[in-house]
Amino acid sequence: MLNIVIFGAPGSGKGTQSARIVEKYGLNHISTGDVLRAEIKNGTELGKTAKGYIDNGQLIPDALMIDILASVFDSFKDSKGVIFDGFPRTIAQADALKAMLAERGQEVSIMLDLEVPEDELMTRLIKRGQESGRADDNEETIKKRLVVYHSQTAPLIDWYKNDGKYCHINGLGTMDGIFADICTAIDKL
Ligand code: AP5
Repeated sequence: MLNIVIFGAPGSGKGTQSARIVEKYGLNHISTGDVLRAEIKNGTELGKTAKGYIDNGQLIPDALMIDILASVFDSFKDSKGVIFDGFPRTIAQADALKAMLAERGQEVSIMLDLEVPEDELMTRLIKRGQESGRADDNEETIKKRLVVYHSQTAPLIDWYKNDGKYCHINGLGTMDGIFADICTAIDKL
């Protein structure tokens, strides 16, 4: 199985590129952000809990996210592989993902790190907020999300380098050009 972690700051293009990877390689897609937004839309207890964190640009507690991840992963039958989009976001989540996959005789194949300068991230997310009305795409919340990214999520770059799975991707440029670089990395696996 091909288990791909797609990684990067808010607005780096994880969702955009995941859709293309899913289409080309026939993988299942787990976007933890999409899972949480669906729960909020459906007014579930989990959604009510998640909304407070998301609207404030903070991460949902690890224990909750790890449970959600495992249950979505196990819902895929006869999968060719999975793209993990927005998970892991902390060292604890990376440890949990590694353990969960090992229990199932699997491992992460590659971690694709989409690197994009901060001014471009801000421009993309403000534009998306204006077009789609996504509640956490306002300047104040985006700044909080970026602080959380640097303090809690970026340390995973070294974690995956140490694990031998790290692959840097320049996330600035055309969507097609970035996707071509991603395919080159995946096709080497
Ligand atoms: P999540 O939904 O994962 O948000 P995020 O990581 O902030 O990422 P985004 O969805 O904002 O951006 P993206 O990298 O997918 O970029 P996209 O392709 O959309 O998480 C939301 C919240 O949920 C978190 O803040 C947290 O509270 C919670 N959460 C989720 N997972 C969690 C976890 N594991 N643990 C704890 N809490 C968790 O692109 C962005 C925009 O740019 C789009 O408009 C797109 O069209 C445009 N764009 C993309 N590529 C390009 C390009 N090459 N050039 C120009 N524009 C581009």
